[in-house]
Amino acid sequence: MDRQLEPELMTEPEQARAYAEADFEEPNSRFLALFEQCFPGFEGEGYILDVGCGPGDITLRFAERYPGAVVHGVDGAAAMLDLARLEAGRRPALQGHVDFLQATLPDLHLPQARYAAIISNSLLHHLHQPEGLWQCVRQYARPGAPILVMDLFRPNTPDEARELVDHYAASEPEVLRKDFFNSLLAAFEPQEIRRQLQEAGLTQLTVEPCSDRHVLVHGHA
Ligand SMILES: C[S@@+](CC[C@H](N)C(=O)[O-])C[C@H]1O[C@@H](n2cnc3c(N)ncnc32)[C@H](O)[C@@H]1O
Repeated sequence: MDRQLEPELMTEPEQARAYAEADFEEPNSRFLALFEQCFPGFEGEGYILDVGCGPGDITLRFAERYPGAVVHGVDGAAAMLDLARLEAGRRPALQGHVDFLQATLPDLHLPQARYAAIISNSLLHHLHQPEGLWQCVRQYARPGAPILVMDLFRPNTPDEARELVDHYAASEPEVLRKDFFNSLLAAFEPQEIRRQLQEAGLTQLTVEPCSDRHVLVHGHA
């Protein structure tokens, strides 16, 4: 099945709200656990960059987990950042440890020259030019910094995509089910991601499926 692009930014307030209200407890807590598992020696000092942070759930989890770090959540969609800032405002303990910035790949202009770690969940499949994410890693990661990127991978057929939606999002609102289906069709196959990394000169990163619908990219910059 060929890749079918979806719009990059999630700019509609209704779409952003439905996404923020969806139950991502399992994949988001797993994302943090996978980071800890892949990078047990990470000291959690300095700046962490979360690219395509959406409503900021993972950004905030990292800020809570690594109190010695400042986490920058970056997204191109104002509707998402509004929700992220609202949620951050409910956690006064994180003040000064988390910041949300509007910027769109591939033209990021970030306040830090180099980040101690770069993370990204569920962004890659949105990108019409996926090399933008890998350029960001090349440009903004401190040498040796932990990199963790998780995304969906593309099933073989639309029917397989529909089965995944029915299995994992049976009781979610229609807007979210549609987003999930479109995201599966827009996602990359692991082999396509390996080719992107080769072209970006990031062959030290490992690409491996980590569930029936997720692929993980991890390693050091
Ligand atoms: C599916 S959401 C994932 C949000 C969050 N990382 C999470 O795991 O919940 C993808 C996010 O990437 C953002 N995005 C898509 N293309 C982008 C780009 N080119 N530059 C910056 N953000 C982008 C969208 O606006 C959206 O908020």
